[in-house]
Formats: sequence, C-alpha cells, structure tokens
Amino acid sequence: MSHKISSLEQYREVYQKSVQQPEAFWSSIAESFEWEKRWDNVLKWNFISPEVKWFSNGKLNITENCLDRHLVLDSDKTAIIWEPNGINEPTRKLSYKELAEEVNKFSNVLRDLGAEKGDRICLYMPMVPELTIAVLACARIGAIHSVVFAGFSAQSLGDRINDAGCKILITADGLFRGSKTVNLKAIADEALELTSVIKSVVVFKRTGEDVPMLPSRDYWWGDLMEDASIEAAPEIMDSEDPLFILYTSGSTGKPKGVVHSTAGYMIYAYYTFLNVFQYESEDIFWCTADVGWITGHTYIIYGPLLNGATTVMFEGVPNFPDAGRFWAIIDKLQVTKFYTAPTAIRSLMAAGTDFVNPYKLSSLKVIGSVGEPINEEAWHWYDEHIGKKRCPIVDTWWQTETGGIMIAPIAHVTPTKPTFATLPLPGVQPILVDSEGNELKENDVEGLLCMKFPWPGIIRTTYGDHERCRQNYFTTFPGLYFTGDGCRRDKDGYYRIIGRVDDVMNVSGHRLGTAEVENAIDEHKNVIESAVVGFPHEIKGQGIFAFVITESLIGDITQFENEIRDLVSKIISPIAKPDKIVVVPGLPKTRSGKIMRRILRKIAEGDTSNLGDITTLLDPGVVDEIIQLIQIKK
Ligand code: WTA
Repeated sequence: MSHKISSLEQYREVYQKSVQQPEAFWSSIAESFEWEKRWDNVLKWNFISPEVKWFSNGKLNITENCLDRHLVLDSDKTAIIWEPNGINEPTRKLSYKELAEEVNKFSNVLRDLGAEKGDRICLYMPMVPELTIAVLACARIGAIHSVVFAGFSAQSLGDRINDAGCKILITADGLFRGSKTVNLKAIADEALELTSVIKSVVVFKRTGEDVPMLPSRDYWWGDLMEDASIEAAPEIMDSEDPLFILYTSGSTGKPKGVVHSTAGYMIYAYYTFLNVFQYESEDIFWCTADVGWITGHTYIIYGPLLNGATTVMFEGVPNFPDAGRFWAIIDKLQVTKFYTAPTAIRSLMAAGTDFVNPYKLSSLKVIGSVGEPINEEAWHWYDEHIGKKRCPIVDTWWQTETGGIMIAPIAHVTPTKPTFATLPLPGVQPILVDSEGNELKENDVEGLLCMKFPWPGIIRTTYGDHERCRQNYFTTFPGLYFTGDGCRRDKDGYYRIIGRVDDVMNVSGHRLGTAEVENAIDEHKNVIESAVVGFPHEIKGQGIFAFVITESLIGDITQFENEIRDLVSKIISPIAKPDKIVVVPGLPKTRSGKIMRRILRKIAEGDTSNLGDITTLLDPGVVDEIIQLIQIKK
C-alpha cells in the first residue's frame, strides 16, 4: 500500500485519521518495513517524565530497511552520487549493492576493533561516502553513532566525545572545503588529549597529507577494509534502542546530546521524505546539508535510503569555484528534488543571477528550504530563478529534537504561501499557547509553538541526563513539548515560524546558545563578563552581537576583537564568531542580577526607540551609555 498522499482532500482525511487513531495510522506505515519480530504495543507515552515508546518490543535493524531490502529488486540502482569539492575530480557513484558491501565490510572492521551493541562511536569526517558508510555500519552493529560536524573545534569535539563516552573515533587525514584544506587529524589529535575514553581511531585518507599515526591506536581505513568480509549479520535491535546521539545547542550550558531511537526515527524519516518531497523512484534527490547536522542525518542518509532513493552527497561549498556551483551540479546530475537552507539562498541571491542564467535547471521538480525562517525576498528569488515558478517550494519546519519534518507543505498537494511552513504533517499535533500556557484556539493568532501528542521521531532523552530533557522541553508548559519557537497561525490555519523565543540563536541555519558563546568569550584574560544576542543579518539570518565588559582599558581594539574571535573559533567553531563586539561599562541587569537580553536585543537591532520598561534595572543609566557607545562605533 502506498503511503503517499496525492491530493489536498486526501491529506485532510489522512490527517484526521492520524489524530483520531494515531496508533492505527502509524502501525499501517510500520507494516511496510522488515521486522525481525513484530511489536507488542504501538505507543506508550507521557509528557511528564517524559517517556515515549513507539512499537515496544519490536525487533529490527534499520540497515536491513535501508539496504538489504532494496537488494532483492534493485541492487544495481544508484544509492549515493558523490560530488567532490574540486571540479576536476570525478563524480563517484555507489549502487545499493556496493553500499551494502562497504557497510558490511566496515561493520566487520568495527567489530574487530571491539565495538559492540550500545557502544558509542564518534564520527568526525569530511562529506565523503565513507561518512555514510560509517554511520550505517554503526547502525548495523547496534553501536550508537555520534556525528560531530567537521567544522567544530578540538575542544568541542573533545567535549562531545567525553559526554557520550565514545570508544572509537572515525576521522580523516584532512578535508577539502572550497579553496581550503583542513587538517582534521591534527584537530582530532588535539581533542584526543582532552579525553581518555577513545581506544581506537580509524583514519580515512582523503587529502593524502602526512599525518602522525599513533601505533596501536590509529589505523588507516584502507588497511582495515582490505581483507574485511562483505557479509555482516545485522545486530537485532529493540525498537526503542538508541540509534544515534546528535549534539545541539540549547538556551543554557553546553550542547546536549539529543538521543533518537531506532524504529520511531526510521518510520518518521521514511514517511516525511516520501510525502514532503513526493518521492518517485527515478528521483535524484539532493539535500545540501552536512551530515554533521540533523538535516543530513535524516534527508541525506536515512530518509532517502529507507525509500530506496538516489541521494546526492556534495563535499564542497556553494560558492566554490564560484556562486554557480549548486546550479552546475543540478544540471550535471539532473537533480529532481533539491533541499537547501535560506542562508545559502540569500548568499547566492546576493551573488546575482549571472551565476544562475547559464544553467537550465529543467530537471528540478521540487525545491525545499530548512533551518531558519525564509524571508519573503529570498522565497520569491528561489521561486523565480531556481524553481522557475514550476516547482513548489517546501518550507520545512522541524528541529534536531523532532527527528524529521513536522510542519511543511506536501509538494504539489498543499498550496504554498511565501514564508509559511503551511500545515502540520499527518501525526503532528501543534498547538499555540500564550506565555501562561493557555491554548490559543482561534486562527489569526501569534503564540508559542508546542506539540500536544508524540510523533514517532520525537527525542527520547538527552544523553546521560534525562532530567535535562525534561527541564528543557517538558516543564515550560506541563503536558506539552515546547519547541522554543514563536509562531503565527493565520486565518487559513497556516503556520509561519517567527523564530526562537529562548536564548538560542540561529546563525546561517546553525543553532548556537548565547551562553555557549558567552562562556567562550569570558575565557579571555581581559574579559570580566559578556552578554551575547542575535541580531538580524542580511545573509546569515542572524548575526552575533557581543557586549563585553573588560578588566582594563583596551589599547588596540581591532586586536582585542580578533583575539575574541580567535578564542571563540578555538573553543567552539568559526561559525560562532561574533560579528559585532562592543566594549561596555556595564550590562543591563535586574536587581536579582539577571541580564535583560530583551533590551540588548533591541539595541543590537538598532531599535532603541521603544525599549519598554527599564525601571526594574539595577542601573538604568547603563542603557544610555551602551546606546551612545554603539553610535560612536558606527
Ligand atoms: C529553526 C534544523 C523557520 C527553528 C532542522 C527551529 C526554522 C530550529 C525552520 C531548529 C523553518 C528550522 N522556518 N525556522 N522552515 N526550520 N527552523 O535543530 O527555530 O538545527 O527551532 O534543526 O531552526 O534547528 P535545528
């Protein structure tokens, strides 16, 4: 039975069923997978502990559904098309059969290194097919993968390795990103000095540069794979066994490890990919995200492979060798469905249509957007110049914690509206509440976006700290999952995501906590305290504005700013570097010592006309001083 929705009327029917009989709805989808043993119970849940269990006691391995299942009829079909960073290197293709063999070989390698079910394995890799192979090999042997984006610093990598207690690290000698080469192994080695939990390191050779290898800890990927068998029995997993951990920033403290389960995530990744993009078997699907983020997990690897699709993996960046690279690849590979982020669209829009015009883009059928609100101008540019007004834009709202797309148009089915993520997918029950938690039932309202019922892809816990999961998502409004996003529902019941209402910033589609960046800045020897807020940025969506109190006068301000930026790059990642830094005499604090970010946000936006009530501040005068300093700086 096809689970693909093909008309608006059918969407309404299916949606009704998914709300009225969620268990029947999701089990009819689960039926289409390979199970070693059927589940006993479809759903057990409460949003108080919280505890959510889908398909209890079902036994399966997700890689059988991603790979083995397709080998029967379609083993020669292309699973992965890999496009390298440089334009002179050839495209590489892996069929489902080849991918399955590589995954089995690497599963055997991991087992030989002592990896067992439940072990955590960290991946810090370039965007090469071996990253996908390693992810799937972990899943095949029941190890929990924790992919760390290869743009993170040694410190961030070390922290994540320690938090998850990873036993094995898989990395590469280096990576190519645009005109740059990054020596990944050197960063990995630095991270390894911060941890003692890693027993083995597997190094994939990508750049061919010389890297030190520590005997009996470091192994070359190629050497280990040489004699590995192409058969590897899948580990039988329980539905609720964790599949992966993915770190993401929250409003407090260090990034947390979002844990996803096996069966629920699988079903959700499959279903959302199939419907939102209206997958057809001849599709060439390209999601431009990095596998280091949730979008890459779900829509480069799991969603497409569960559907037996051909998925494109691109190693490079949108503006190398020039701003036409994406469009060149679409024509070259005849991409049919394309999924990218507003920040990329805005930067390519700024480069001008001269970079688009040489390309036909006639293979495209659906174009998507994810990761941040898409502004009206970018939406129309995307529609006109890339989709040529023929391709629906699917503006997909979701989060690392949701596992897959939650609110989005179904391509060719849901009428789109610029900047609106439109309607919830089947099984998704959003509600808007006011700050007291009262449900806003009508349309044409603005409120805080929550979910009142679990979907299969929901976060199960934050690794090693369930209380943090409860605190973060389930205590703001008891009985609801709180997303952290503000949202508008218009008169037609369409949802438009406004942005985060907590202390999480979204910089070029990357999630960063203000506290994380502040902690990094505070490491500078001359910094007493700092406060960081997001501000509107033409390309990045949000930029980072840092207000800094220093111990002594700053001599060379440019040098000081560079030191701060270097420090943040080193501690977190270059993506977290503040765009603007201003040294201030004090910060607007309440009498209880809490920084009033609302005021700093307004100042950073340049909107000082209406700062609201500042009389509760310990020292209201500081606000004027800050405003004046910023004006001088301009
Ligand atoms: C934001 C990315 C508006 C939102 C998949 C969310 C969006 C956060 C959209 C999650 C969208 C994501 N429109 N905002 N279509 N998609 N967001 O965990 O603020 O990296 O809470 O997951 O990105 O970011 P994350």
